[in-house]
Amino acid sequence: MAPVPPPGSGLVHLRAAGVSLLLDLSGGMLPRVLHWGADLGPLSPQTLDHLRLARQPQPIGNSVDGPVPVAVLPEQSAGWLGTPGLVGNRGGRDFSTAFRVSGSDLRTGEGERGGRLVVRAADGTAGLELELTVELTPAGLVRQRATVTNRGGSPFALDALNLTLPVPAEATELLDFTGRHLRERSPQRTAFTQGLRVRENRTGRTGYDSAYLLAAGTAGFGNRSGEIWAVHTAWSGNHRTFAERTFHAVSLLGSGELLLSGEVLLESGAQYTSPWQYGSWGVGLDELSARFHRQLRARPNHPSSPRPVVVNTWEAVYFDHDLDRLRALADAAASVGAERFVLDDGWFGSRRDDRRGLGDWYVSDEVWPKGLGPLVDHVTGLGMQFGLWVEPEMVNEDSDLARAHPDWIMAAGGRLPGAARSQQVLDLGRPEAFGYILERLDQLLTDYPIAYLKWDHNRDLVEAGHQPTGRAGVHDQTLATYRLMDELRRRHPGVEIESCSSGGGRVDLEILERTDRVWVSDCIDALERQQIQRWTNALIPLELMGTHVGSGVAHTTARRHPLDFRAGTALFGHFGIEWDLTSAAPEELTRLAEWIALYKELRGLLHTGTAVHADHPDPAYRLHGVVAEDRSEALYALVSVATSELYPTGPVRLPGLDPEALYHVRPQPPGDLPDGNAHRWGVPLPWWTPQGVTLPGRALAGAGLQAPVLYPERLVLLRATRVEPGGAR
Ligand code: GLA
Repeated sequence: MAPVPPPGSGLVHLRAAGVSLLLDLSGGMLPRVLHWGADLGPLSPQTLDHLRLARQPQPIGNSVDGPVPVAVLPEQSAGWLGTPGLVGNRGGRDFSTAFRVSGSDLRTGEGERGGRLVVRAADGTAGLELELTVELTPAGLVRQRATVTNRGGSPFALDALNLTLPVPAEATELLDFTGRHLRERSPQRTAFTQGLRVRENRTGRTGYDSAYLLAAGTAGFGNRSGEIWAVHTAWSGNHRTFAERTFHAVSLLGSGELLLSGEVLLESGAQYTSPWQYGSWGVGLDELSARFHRQLRARPNHPSSPRPVVVNTWEAVYFDHDLDRLRALADAAASVGAERFVLDDGWFGSRRDDRRGLGDWYVSDEVWPKGLGPLVDHVTGLGMQFGLWVEPEMVNEDSDLARAHPDWIMAAGGRLPGAARSQQVLDLGRPEAFGYILERLDQLLTDYPIAYLKWDHNRDLVEAGHQPTGRAGVHDQTLATYRLMDELRRRHPGVEIESCSSGGGRVDLEILERTDRVWVSDCIDALERQQIQRWTNALIPLELMGTHVGSGVAHTTARRHPLDFRAGTALFGHFGIEWDLTSAAPEELTRLAEWIALYKELRGLLHTGTAVHADHPDPAYRLHGVVAEDRSEALYALVSVATSELYPTGPVRLPGLDPEALYHVRPQPPGDLPDGNAHRWGVPLPWWTPQGVTLPGRALAGAGLQAPVLYPERLVLLRATRVEPGGAR
């Protein structure tokens, strides 16, 4: 990106991928966002000036005199009486800041490729310096963060550093997420009324019950309609995401790290950097999500090799680590097409169940008398990669590590926190503990050809202080985890890491800077997964989502589903198997092999295409799919999640295709059998044949196709292929 001279008017207009971000830097004040949303087109400096005039709020009585512009870091000194950007004090003083800009640096990309504005500001009285970075990325995402430096002679206690983005009054509805173990990312909608809606997460990990995305949109916004603005707080520790609306007609989305009392005490010269805040705008949730997906796919470290079919041992054998049993599982998995074998929990120390051994990262002599070598050799001999489960940030009280170093356990008040899953948190902010874990993992990665780590984190951080002081340590722990992953990746550049946290408890864009996929949920019941995966995909693309085929009866819900529903659900992600295949029937193995062959055929499309979701009016049916970037082909799944009031249900629209192009649409085997009433009656629909129908994208999106009647909890696949001009069809 090229440096650009500072704008005379103090207005900076960045444009990318259909988005404009207009920032006002005039008057030496911190940047204010005058517009974030639909592209305003090329605007001359004079027009920009007029826009500023046109947007200036009217001063009113019984308030501070003059307009109250709200900066990305809002301050009381500028008249803002809502949630402050910076909260802190120096021995009880300097609680309110008045930053003045001392310099800025603007770099813009070629053409409409966004840019980066870095603003330096200082408050001499408070003794603080601030550096704000505001970017519009080529994907059209806004991202911003702030660094505050203590220039005073005494410590400054920092309690919060929040950044905000304004949204217009038209955004009257909020969407965010809640969830729990086995039911991650449950959407919730509320009205965006005046006041403050805060989603706080104090679990010391990204958390199930945190905002994930906090979106504000026009009334009734959906997958394909309505203007929507959303923020994501890219942080894997405590954080806060909020929506605030005031009677001054200001609506904001904001976020920051949630700092525990006393957690950040900046000594003279010390700095604190906030998490990145990401903002995405779009018409319909699909467009908003596509910006996040494009951003992630543009990372230099984004996985570029075909995502290998995984077989994970957890629900297949749990803690029963027996070489012969695992070899047989590997044989069965390889025979259906698996490409990566992941040995889950139970291979180390005294870890024969989930109550002991965490922290003792030495291969267990008891279950692996010859080390992992015989299994690794067998797996790699079958042509599969080998992966290993670890949970580096945790320790069981019943472990050699905890017995040797009880003071390495995070605690406050001289007492241990209540155990969760019989475990405690290892204080990685302590250099000796960090060094021990780094050495252990480094050694394992050196000893064995490990291609993949499933990196788990199975409890909340409760009373997580450093011993012996008892000072809050979640912030340090979060940074130490990032450092640990970064250092291991530096030493072992080829190793991929999966972010797991009792299922999908650590899914955020900062952990994804150093991991290659997330484990979406411990629940692999396909019906539950339809919802969990849909909403996980609102932020991250399919290739980063671990999706496995489980056994016929789901272990976490006891629901029974046919293989086609399980496999057709896992197809939309990074496909894997978590099922004791040694007990599967031969016809199940044959069918699974067909699904795996389809995954291998389609993973190029699934992992680079655009995710689409129809706004289907029948709540019993869902239609989602992936359309190739060049819109030459698409794969859709029509899913019945319940019985329908409608009989038959109506047509279903296929979104995302090129309206002008012709497409050949037909059922896609092996997911082409509507295993329901329609199937029983023979040919269910006139077009439900390998010949299908040929229609323009506009007709498929606007009129749609009659959907087959399905039993509840079934799905069918549709494939659309563009008919090239002069082509056969
Ligand atoms: C967590 C993970 C599971 C499995 C177990 C092992 O619950 O989410 O996938 O790895 O730990 O103990």
